[in-house]
Amino acid sequence: MKIFIDSADMGEIREAMSWGIVDGATTNPSLVAKTGRPVEESLVEICELVKGPVSAEVIATDAEGMIAEGRKLAAMHEHVVVKCPMTADGLVATRCLSEEGTRVNVTLIFQPAQALLAAKAGAAYVSPFVGRLDDIGEDGMGMVASIVEIFSNFDFATEVLVASVRGSFHAVEAARIGADVATCPGSVIRQMMKHPLTDLGLERFLADHRKLTG
Ligand code: E4P
Repeated sequence: MKIFIDSADMGEIREAMSWGIVDGATTNPSLVAKTGRPVEESLVEICELVKGPVSAEVIATDAEGMIAEGRKLAAMHEHVVVKCPMTADGLVATRCLSEEGTRVNVTLIFQPAQALLAAKAGAAYVSPFVGRLDDIGEDGMGMVASIVEIFSNFDFATEVLVASVRGSFHAVEAARIGADVATCPGSVIRQMMKHPLTDLGLERFLADHRKLTG
């Protein structure tokens, strides 16, 4: 399974890339707003750093506007993946941009039917938001399992990109189910590295080594 860094913050992305296990990045308007910089300012920098797919979201809500914005974003760097929302206009824009050779990530997916339509529109990725679904008492990972099953039934090339990841448990479940990608905040990737017994074990090994060397 691929792991993407879910951030627009250069510092966080740089740190995650230094770990050598990150394959791409995703941003959204909320993550971009937190940085205080328009995405156009940092997109090329992120693309150069990540050297893999970098999702950047359109702000327009009508198909024509999304297509124009998507073309602009895609022209900025070959690694750009245009993120369109899962709406009727988003599907129109997805079909058009995909046919032009631009990869599209259809975002804000909350049920398998939406993922099916996005795949039929030619999306390169669909982004089911597991954390936000869990937040309202529904089963985020259950949705991902259904999407993975449906896509494998029909050999869709569309990749399932698990988003709104809240902890390492989501990333592990995504891998167990066979999702293609989990996009994780830096804090979640750090959580995936850690176990208290690893820290304790290392402490003991070093203490025993010190006994030998004085
Ligand atoms: C990434 O593509 C999504 O926009 C992001 O994972 C959403 O995460 P959130 O639900 O924690 O805001």
